[in-house]
Amino acid sequence: MLPQARQWLRDARVVAVLTGAGMSAESGVPTFRGPEGLWKQFRPEELATPEAFARDPLLVWEWYDWRRRTIAAVTPHAGHLALAALEKVKEDFALITQNVDGLHDAAGSRNVLKVHGDIWRLRCTRCRREWTCRDAPLASLPPRCDCGGLARPGVVWFGESLPRDVWAKAEEAAERCEVLLVAGTSAVVYPAAGLVPLAKRAGARVIEINREQTPVSAVCDASLRGPAGEVLPALIAEV
Ligand code: OAD
Repeated sequence: MLPQARQWLRDARVVAVLTGAGMSAESGVPTFRGPEGLWKQFRPEELATPEAFARDPLLVWEWYDWRRRTIAAVTPHAGHLALAALEKVKEDFALITQNVDGLHDAAGSRNVLKVHGDIWRLRCTRCRREWTCRDAPLASLPPRCDCGGLARPGVVWFGESLPRDVWAKAEEAAERCEVLLVAGTSAVVYPAAGLVPLAKRAGARVIEINREQTPVSAVCDASLRGPAGEVLPALIAEV
């Protein structure tokens, strides 16, 4: 299956990639689902919804500060580097990620569409200003804007819409691509998971890279079972 998938990738001029938390697992960032997943230890409705933030901004920020500290200590792995290298040799390439950790940027990827936002961005709930802050830990919790307003993490929470321009580009990339790589996502969170059937309907070859089977495995043309840090470099080598 790997040689066939490699051939599809080699032949494609237009490539899109969709990544999820499993992409960062080998770097040391916990995933959300699965036996060791964050949602086993924490309740998303207490930490990752606008209602949770309105109820207890300090609690939400403590959790995000902990995640920021975890992520600040890790580095991209060979799979992230392979995707950055793939971008360099493809004429038309988009990397759509559900990850907020910035590891694709750190690996050198350029056209990264962050459909669930960016944990390093902060947004003022009063004046709407957005800025980047990489302090980990943050100097004070909850952080405030220069205007005095309460800042929130620049991520998408459950029940919120995805950033409209980023999402439009992601849909366009999925519809346009000849090959879609789907790496390290459980493909259960919509609308991001819907990019897989969208690409398939538009005629793309879909190649999944995951340790386990997912709900989209059945529509994929190839399902490569294994860790992203090993499978992606093997797939992208010689492309
Ligand atoms: P999940 O935690 O739901 O799924 C991680 C997937 O990665 C699973 O399918 C694992 O089998 C797979 N996996 C784990 N380790 C891997 C490895 N080393 N190599 C390859 N695959 C591996 O993460 P997402 O699908 O990203 O949303 O979750 C989607 C969204 O749910 C997240 O963006 C987040 C979360 O709630 C928001 O925060 C809005």
